[in-house]
Amino acid sequence: MGKQGLKRGFINRIFGVPATKTPQDSDCWSFRDGVITVDLGRAPELSKPGGSIRLEGGDLPERVLVFQGDDGTYRAVKNRCTHIGHRRLDPVPGQNCVQCCSVNGSMYEYDGANLKGPAPHPIKTYQVVKEDNALIIKLA
Ligand code: FES
Repeated sequence: MGKQGLKRGFINRIFGVPATKTPQDSDCWSFRDGVITVDLGRAPELSKPGGSIRLEGGDLPERVLVFQGDDGTYRAVKNRCTHIGHRRLDPVPGQNCVQCCSVNGSMYEYDGANLKGPAPHPIKTYQVVKEDNALIIKLA
């Protein structure tokens, strides 16, 4: 059986509203010299599998989705579907994948590979290293 996508309202999908929010504590992350640092102590959204935050704005050169995978591993991907609408992505708890928030809902494996839907290319993934209580994400 294929992987199941997130159950989202049609209006959310039409307007491309992702399930993942920006962090409640906007100071939980910083970006410097091509590296994002996330303070896990200030990002409770990431405390359990399927939890996620989206980072965007400021000096960040591209939108980034940070999440805890179903296996407990922290992951980060470029938060831009490769299909024409270039909508944002969400992790799909229990399915080991991420999904575009649009109507077409393209899905990608954790390694960025295309899984389902019209998106023509894989998404970019970033290395995430956990150091003490922080995540270090190198964009370059
Ligand atoms: S923008 Fe993602 S499937 Fe169309």
